[in-house]
Amino acid sequence: MEKTKKILDKEQLEKEDLIYLLSLENDDEIELLRQKAEQTLFGLVGEKVFFRGLIEFSNICTSDCLYCGIRKSNPNVSRYTLDEAEILEQVQQCANLGYGSIVLQSGERSDNLFIDFLVKILKKIKQMTISEKQPEGLGITLCVGEQTEENYRRLYDAGAHRYLLRIESSNPELFRKIHPPEQKYETRVKALKALKNVGFQVGTGVMIGLPEQTIEDLANDILFFKEMDIDMLGMGPYVIHNETPFAVYSDYYEKNKEKIYKLALKMIAVCRIFLKDVNIASTTALQAMQPVGREDGLMFGANIIMPLLTPTYRRKEYQLYEGKPCIEDSTEDCYFCISNRIASIGRTIGLDAWGDSKHALKRK
Ligand code: 5AD
Repeated sequence: MEKTKKILDKEQLEKEDLIYLLSLENDDEIELLRQKAEQTLFGLVGEKVFFRGLIEFSNICTSDCLYCGIRKSNPNVSRYTLDEAEILEQVQQCANLGYGSIVLQSGERSDNLFIDFLVKILKKIKQMTISEKQPEGLGITLCVGEQTEENYRRLYDAGAHRYLLRIESSNPELFRKIHPPEQKYETRVKALKALKNVGFQVGTGVMIGLPEQTIEDLANDILFFKEMDIDMLGMGPYVIHNETPFAVYSDYYEKNKEKIYKLALKMIAVCRIFLKDVNIASTTALQAMQPVGREDGLMFGANIIMPLLTPTYRRKEYQLYEGKPCIEDSTEDCYFCISNRIASIGRTIGLDAWGDSKHALKRK
C-alpha cells in the first residue's frame, strides 16, 4: 500500500512504476490508482464526457487480422456497405441528438472507389451539419485503417480532422504474431506518422490481454504513446471471436477473462496518469465483458464514449469480437442508455461540442 501511494505521488513515472501499477492485484490499491486517475482527469481535462456517434459503415475488409471477427477470410460474415442516404440519415440523427462528433469506421479498404466515396460523404456531412449550435459542423473522426499519405490528405481536406489507427501492440514481435505476414509493424508506424504530417489529431491504442502479451509490453505501449505524442487513445480488452484463428486461445481466454478486464481498467488509469491531457475512450469492448464496462472505463479516467449509430439491421454483421452489446437497440435507445449511465456515475455530457483533446489543442 505504502509503495503504491509513493508511486502515485511522484511527479514523473518511470517504466518500472508503470509496470508496478499495471500489476496491482489488491482491490484497495486498485482503488487508489482509480482515484488518482480520476483526479488527474478532473484537474487537467474536466469531468465532462464527450460523445462520438459511431457509424460502422462497412464490414468489407481486405485484411486478415488473426483476432478479428470481420477478417476477410471469415466466410460467415454477410458483407455490407451503407449507402450515402443510410449514412447521412444516421449523421442527421447524431446532430439532432446533440452528439458533437461522429466516427466513421469500417474494415480496411484503400482502393480509389472507396476513398472517392468517403471524400464525397465527408463533404456532405460537413455541409449538412453546419448550424448555429455547431458553426463548424460535426467533428469527424475516421477509423478506416492504413492508407497512403496522399489518401490521408484527401480525407483531411474533405473535412475529417481526427483519425484513429491502433498500433494494436507496440511490440513488433507480438504485432507480427497477431497479424498476417503482409501486415507490417513498420508500415503501421509510418501510417501514424503520415497522419500527423497531414495534420490530423491522431489516436491510437492497443488490445489488452492478448495471448502472450506481458505487462512489460503494456508499459512499453504507454511509452510508445508518449513518444508518438498521440492525442487520443482507444484501447479495450481483447475479446475472443470463435470464427477466427485465435479461437485456439479459448482456454486462455476463459481462464483469464476477469484478469483481462481488470487489466484493461488499470491500463486506462495508468495512461491517464502518465499521459495527462489526452482524450481516452471508454470502449465498447469493455461492455462486451461486463454490463457496466463503459461506466467503469469512465471512472478509471476515460472521458469519451462512442454510442452506436449503426442502423440496428446491420449491427450484428459488424462483430469484431463476441458479446458485442446493443445489437438489438436503436440509436435513441443507445442515447438514453448511455446518458443514464453517465448520470449514474455523477458525470455530465458535453453536448453540441467537438470535445477535442486538450493535448491536441495545446500543441496547436
Ligand atoms: N477483441 C478486441 N478488440 C478487437 N478489435 C478487433 N478485433 C478485436 C477483438 N477480438 C479492435 C482492434 C481494432 C479495433 C477497430 O477493434 O483493436 O483496431
